[in-house]
Amino acid sequence: MNSLKPIFDEKKPQVYIETYGCQMNVNDSEVILSVLQSNGYALTEDMNKADVILANTCSIRENAEQRIWGRIEQFRLQKKRNPAIVIGIVGCMAERLKDKLLEKVDLVAGPDSYRNIARMIADVRPDSPQINVLLSRDETYSDISPVRLDKNGVSAYISIMRGCNNACSYCVVPYTRGAERSRDPHSIVREAEELFANGYKEVNLLGQNVDSYLWKSAEGNVNFAGLLEMVSAVSPELRVRFSTSHPKDISDEVLMTMAAHENICRHIHLPVQSGSSTMLEKMRRKYDREWYLERVAKIREIMPDCGLSTDVIAGFSGETEEDHQDTLSLFREVCFDSAFMFQYSERPGTLASKKYPDDIAPEVKTARLNEIIELQTRMSLESNRRNIGETFKVLVEGPSKRNESDLCGRAGNNKMCVFPSAVQERMEAGLEPLKPGDYVTVKVIDCTSATLLCQQIF
Ligand code: 5AD
Ligand code: SF4
Repeated sequence: MNSLKPIFDEKKPQVYIETYGCQMNVNDSEVILSVLQSNGYALTEDMNKADVILANTCSIRENAEQRIWGRIEQFRLQKKRNPAIVIGIVGCMAERLKDKLLEKVDLVAGPDSYRNIARMIADVRPDSPQINVLLSRDETYSDISPVRLDKNGVSAYISIMRGCNNACSYCVVPYTRGAERSRDPHSIVREAEELFANGYKEVNLLGQNVDSYLWKSAEGNVNFAGLLEMVSAVSPELRVRFSTSHPKDISDEVLMTMAAHENICRHIHLPVQSGSSTMLEKMRRKYDREWYLERVAKIREIMPDCGLSTDVIAGFSGETEEDHQDTLSLFREVCFDSAFMFQYSERPGTLASKKYPDDIAPEVKTARLNEIIELQTRMSLESNRRNIGETFKVLVEGPSKRNESDLCGRAGNNKMCVFPSAVQERMEAGLEPLKPGDYVTVKVIDCTSATLLCQQIF
């Protein structure tokens, strides 16, 4: 069986991996490392010691790509010092920019080629870089146990599907990651069981659009609600999270399944992208403002305590001040707990780049984005204030970043809770000090817009 943890062994060839972009990319790096470790490599966290330098890249916005070009120049300096080093660019930029990348690096590998990455590295010669950017219709890496790169040993990601069949007009992902395919549910459950047996207490099921998860087999089909049910049965002590949900697909069945199982966390990441139905239509999101608001109302009817977060894009093609005001009013109406907020960045090859001009002036995009951010910060604070006086079950992740004597962990609704470790008080009550992976009940005393400030209850 593969090792769940990275192998650090300086006698073996050393691989160094940098990861950009989303959690799915982090999980892909874990798959890559698993393949490489089975082929005799060990991980290094020091680029200067590397025999192989890999960057797992992101294409979602232009600035994500820009950052990586800068890093490639630094890798090349390293190679000047030691020409035997192999530099590889993997992930979403590989397919998009293969020709330009091949001028700079030794290896270009797309998201569906990782199974053969050790072979490709071995085949690199000074005058013959290696490339594989073919996208697959069925690769899900279901038989590869990812080597876990998280630091806390408490919470891990499991990819349940790859690719994306939506055709949002602004988005590059269907081109970089290919068509949607779901992974065998039994391999997902096995991975969750293996994690739990190794001390993990939380799994995060990942997919571009988890609600369209569908495994077809002679024994019967499994949809996302069915998968949630199966994973939640691994242990009541194992928390289950998931992302990302799509407003057009999130079903009442999924909501009822969440409500029926205490270990499925009450949090939904439901990207809205815009509050204007005109923009949503142009974005090809396949729902309108009313549909989105109805889904939010349903979530809150079934689970009044459910956390809700979103993604939004400011300044998409043709966005008027009125469209922008619709986004602000939707944010006020829904009161999200948190949001990832972006300004529109035109991506080559997408439908929008061909059909809709990128015609909102950069300073207008920035001003609108800032307005959304300012509003959301107020709404986050408001949402957190409502929790003052409430109690939550928190999964301890480790010391708080700000203050080593405090601990931090997330409530089921995904809010970050910080609280004194209270070692002395626990000892007096005959309790062991808390450690990562323990569950603890806390009461919210105060808050900021980003954190609930709590006290332990024991
Ligand atoms: N420009 C800006 N933001 C984008 N996103 C996706 N494509 C673009 C783009 N071209 C945002 C969406 C998505 C999140 C992952 O990134 O909000 O939900
Ligand atoms: Fe993830 Fe999308 Fe970036 Fe690819 S382009 S790494 S799928 S966020």
